[in-house]
Amino acid sequence: MEAVPLDAFLAEMARCRADAEAMLAAAADGAAVERARVEFLGARNGRLKGIQKGLGTVEPAARRDAGRHFNDLKDWLTVAIAAAQDRVAAAPATAEAAIDVTLPGTPVPLGHLHPITQTIRRVQEIMSRLGFESVDGPEVEDQWHNFDALAISPEHPARDPLDNFFLQVARGNDPLLLRSQTSTVQIRVMERRRPPLRIVSLGRVYRPDTADATHYPMFHQVEGLLVEPGTTMAHLKTTLRLLASSFLGAGVRVRFRPAFFPFTEPSVEVDMEWGGRWVEMGGAGMVDPAVLTAVGLDPDAVSGFAFGLGVERIAARRHGVADIRDFYRNDVRFLRQF
Ligand code: DAH
Repeated sequence: MEAVPLDAFLAEMARCRADAEAMLAAAADGAAVERARVEFLGARNGRLKGIQKGLGTVEPAARRDAGRHFNDLKDWLTVAIAAAQDRVAAAPATAEAAIDVTLPGTPVPLGHLHPITQTIRRVQEIMSRLGFESVDGPEVEDQWHNFDALAISPEHPARDPLDNFFLQVARGNDPLLLRSQTSTVQIRVMERRRPPLRIVSLGRVYRPDTADATHYPMFHQVEGLLVEPGTTMAHLKTTLRLLASSFLGAGVRVRFRPAFFPFTEPSVEVDMEWGGRWVEMGGAGMVDPAVLTAVGLDPDAVSGFAFGLGVERIAARRHGVADIRDFYRNDVRFLRQF
């Protein structure tokens, strides 16, 4: 067998390396790198194997040199293939695949305000346009603010322990309770501030009622109070009509029926008709002189009106909700509708 000159042998190795370089550079995924590995380092038919076989044919004087170059090529191939394997494992196949700007974005789930909160905000907004400022009062109350100052006498059935959430906590001899009405805030405001006053207070109240379609042991009220010299029942009726039509629409009708509340004189019950059905929304009236006296105001100098409506009632009316318990089940299929 004729000896192969060193130059020819080195040239073959250079071709092998150039081909390997090109194939590895083009390899975009693990399968392509594996094809290159088999092509060049394959134990049976790999090109390096073929070159190794040719090593014995190199002219004897150059064989040592040829062997050294052969080992270099083998090392280079091993490293180059390992590097290509790392590259395709770490990175996506192409830059375009890494950032596909045409993919729809990941939606950020956005919630929204609870329908009762929406109603509260809406009523506050309507009333603010009539000059009524929103104020808050505590939910844990004393009997002065929940009853006495509102002229609710000690024998009045509204004080029945079975109709209130009295607490184990007392202030002096006076057990505290979860407020049963937001009328408490009328007293708190009038104790601290002098007329003219226009306030609304929207918040939670508590009564130990069995939950049904129209009752819940916790619910919300909107309390309104206006105290200014010369206030009459006409101001009260106009204010409630404006609130009703702003919230429920121009088609709403409002009706006032004579009633009794200890803290207003005269007192009325407020009904609203919307979509063919009358619903009682709450009570109202002219602030009773006894209440003005209790907070140190002169009933001969100022007069005022007050009203208290059920927030769940007006929200249910507005949205056609038949069962107020739905507001508190926290079923998103229900809540999502608003
Ligand atoms: N506080 C009363 C209730 O819970 C509602 C009410 C009636 C409030 C008449 C008022 C009012 O301000 O004037 O039943």
